[in-house]
Amino acid sequence: MPEPATQTEYWNSDVGERWVTMQAELDRVFAPLTAALLDAASLRSGERMLDIGCGCGETALLAAERLGAGGAVTALDVSRPMLARARARPATGAPITWIEADAQIHAFAPGHDLALSRFGVMFFEESRAAFANIRQALRPGGRLVVLCWRALTENEWVSLPRDAVLGVVPAPEPPPPGGPGPFRFADGAALAELLAQAGFTGAAVAPVDRAIAIGDDIGAATRFAVTVGPVAGLLRELDDPALRERAVAAVRAAMPAEGPVRLGAACWLATAFNPG
Ligand SMILES: C[S@@+](CC[C@H](N)C(=O)[O-])C[C@H]1O[C@@H](n2cnc3c(N)ncnc32)[C@H](O)[C@@H]1O
Repeated sequence: MPEPATQTEYWNSDVGERWVTMQAELDRVFAPLTAALLDAASLRSGERMLDIGCGCGETALLAAERLGAGGAVTALDVSRPMLARARARPATGAPITWIEADAQIHAFAPGHDLALSRFGVMFFEESRAAFANIRQALRPGGRLVVLCWRALTENEWVSLPRDAVLGVVPAPEPPPPGGPGPFRFADGAALAELLAQAGFTGAAVAPVDRAIAIGDDIGAATRFAVTVGPVAGLLRELDDPALRERAVAAVRAAMPAEGPVRLGAACWLATAFNPG
């Protein structure tokens, strides 16, 4: 399958559709990471929040509940299918405005108390300009709270199935440094520096490590690993169905044998403030 030229095309391709199909599963798997993000956000009743790259809506919906009817959530994404899913989900608490737009250049209303993101900020083509644009949407003292992946090698939920696939197919070219991708901010110090360059103050980057249950058994875990995320990306490029089948079988064989499959996930939780 030819690679989409832009991130907007990518997230509007079959990739976005897969995230929709897997929405409930993804939100269950990522729940321990989501909890860490929401705890760090310290949401207060009545606050106005932005959700950057909100996808199928999980963090916007959970935050709206916590912010209550006096708060407000603006949730933005470039993916039409994922936004359609988000809009269709039941919501309570703060009203949510779903917007199809590019966070790098969208003319946000100013004055938000915080901007939050679960795995939505690593896909910018122009990261510094994007963070500067998001900062201008915050009131003076407003906060940025984002979760992103550490290095691939620290994320067993990706490296274990990926190593299995690479036993069957050749390794792809590494992505260009600084380009969009899930591991774009593997270097936490560089992320803090980038936030400072975008005009934020007090940037802090803290590790979050959790075991995530990617499936109740080997079959479910294999389906998860080959349907969404970086390993799905590797398989997506395989035109030969027999080779694809061998790669999926290799992933299945690599999974731990008994019971629910729990693998390590390693993230950075980055916080920073708009000096105003
Ligand atoms: C890994 S998904 C995470 C989605 C969601 N936050 C979640 O945790 O389920 C990354 C999301 O970022 C969105 N995205 C990528 N680039 C974007 C941009 N420039 N502006 C807004 N959203 C973007 C994608 O469409 C996708 O929904």
